[in-house]
Amino acid sequence: MSQGTRPVAVVVLAAGSGTRMKSKTMKVLHPLAGRTMIGHVLTAALHVEPEHLVAVVGHSREQVGGHILEQVPGALLAVQETQEGTGHAVRVGLDALRAAAGTTDGVVVVMSGDTPLMEGETLSGLVDAHVHAGAVVTLLSAEVAEPFGYGRVLRDPDGGVRAIVEQKDASPEEAAVREINSGVYAFDGAFLADALARVTNDNAKGEYYLTDVVGIARVDGRPVAAHRIDDVMQTEGANDRAQLAALAAEKNRRILARHMRDGVTIVDPTTTWVDVDVTLERDVTILPGVQLLGATAVAEDAVVGPDCTLKDVEVGVGAKVVRTHGELAVVGPGANVGPFSYLRPGTELGAGGKIGGFVETKNARIADGAKVPHLSYVGDAEIGEGTNIGAGTIVANYDGVQKHRTKVGRQARTGSNNTFVAPVEIGDGATTGGGTVVREDVPPGALAVSAGPQRTIEDWTLRRRPGTPMAEAAAAAQAREGGSSHTEASGFVADGDAEGQSK
Ligand code: UD1
Ligand code: CA
Repeated sequence: MSQGTRPVAVVVLAAGSGTRMKSKTMKVLHPLAGRTMIGHVLTAALHVEPEHLVAVVGHSREQVGGHILEQVPGALLAVQETQEGTGHAVRVGLDALRAAAGTTDGVVVVMSGDTPLMEGETLSGLVDAHVHAGAVVTLLSAEVAEPFGYGRVLRDPDGGVRAIVEQKDASPEEAAVREINSGVYAFDGAFLADALARVTNDNAKGEYYLTDVVGIARVDGRPVAAHRIDDVMQTEGANDRAQLAALAAEKNRRILARHMRDGVTIVDPTTTWVDVDVTLERDVTILPGVQLLGATAVAEDAVVGPDCTLKDVEVGVGAKVVRTHGELAVVGPGANVGPFSYLRPGTELGAGGKIGGFVETKNARIADGAKVPHLSYVGDAEIGEGTNIGAGTIVANYDGVQKHRTKVGRQARTGSNNTFVAPVEIGDGATTGGGTVVREDVPPGALAVSAGPQRTIEDWTLRRRPGTPMAEAAAAAQAREGGSSHTEASGFVADGDAEGQSK
């Protein structure tokens, strides 16, 4: 923060229910850019390093209060039993502050829990302006094109702030004013406590308006100031889902702009979504259609996309991740993932490793240079350095009751279409044949083959499927090759039905 005054408290108002969200989830708990609305507000509030953070909660106080304490364990929760207006809410908040701190003296910042784009720097700018003006109230104001619904800032001819008038109480001339009260303020705490005791609910809504303390300051001859900001979006609240989507898009645009300024290439910002806590190093390239969520971190020179969703995923230097869905996974430096890969929690791919197309991994350590290139499931497994897993390999980690582990050593080469029935171990430098079902450990350097010798029954089609297109094709081929081409008998019964066919 700036070297300015440290407020005694920031009071965050979050007792309203937000009925226009039409949701079982409280308004301030709706998420955007990887945090709840109130999560963003609390981050901004903490930026000014208040001695106390006071949250006024009411509707669903367990849900909202619990969430706030998760984010700010030392927060003071003040319960407003009935929502009688913003003035009443702040009074409840100051009671909690007085109970904890013994006083309300000092600078008190008040803000709403539903303005997720508010920046910490804006709050410290407000506090600085407040202290500089020597005011008892400094409100954050903004000039907007559509002021409907907001309290309007009424000024004297000399420019001093006279009062705030709410929409419902405004005359037509007052309603024409385009400077609005953002609902964010810095107060002298002692003055605020005194003034709130004098606010009445004699107005169109029958509520105790916090904004009335401006008029009270004027009556008392105490200075009032307004700190105007140009960035109107910071003051906007989300009251319904359409506004939430608009604010989420704007928040995303700002996050992307920050990363691009810091040296990240974002090919298509309109289809790229990046949560606020994601870190992207210089010269990262993000291709279209990418969502980077949670605590995802992408290191220098890595390329992500197109079309990836990564949540809490670490991508190493120079790695490439294409059309991948990943969560709680680590992709090592120079590794390759995708296209069409599914990295589930606990996946760790080493440096230069590969997880290829249509591969699903879970709780799997795939070491440096190891490859699972095609069509496989690898769960609860460890794959050693430089090992190659054949196409279509399934790690059967679940016996129907319990999960078991599979370990493949280093520099092993396993065949296509294998099943590793866990718990099982395949040693360093071992090989398995195509179609092997590995049920027993394979020692280092051994070859394991489990499929039986092939059984070939000559002329089966002509005898058992006469008159079909396949019989015709077989007959034509035999005619071209001069009769039926008997290879060496395989030792099986020479006639029988095809086994295990499906149609
Ligand atoms: C308020 C301001 C208005 C300003 C606008 C900015 C007043 C009287 N008016 O109006 O000048 O332009 O904010 O958005 O203050 N809340 C409680 N308890 C209550 C009432 C409200 O905790 O009893 C909380 C709400 O949950 C919300 C905040 O206070 O977070 C603002 O309340 P809201 O009803 O939205 O006030 P506005 O009518 O928008
Ligand atoms: Ca509001």
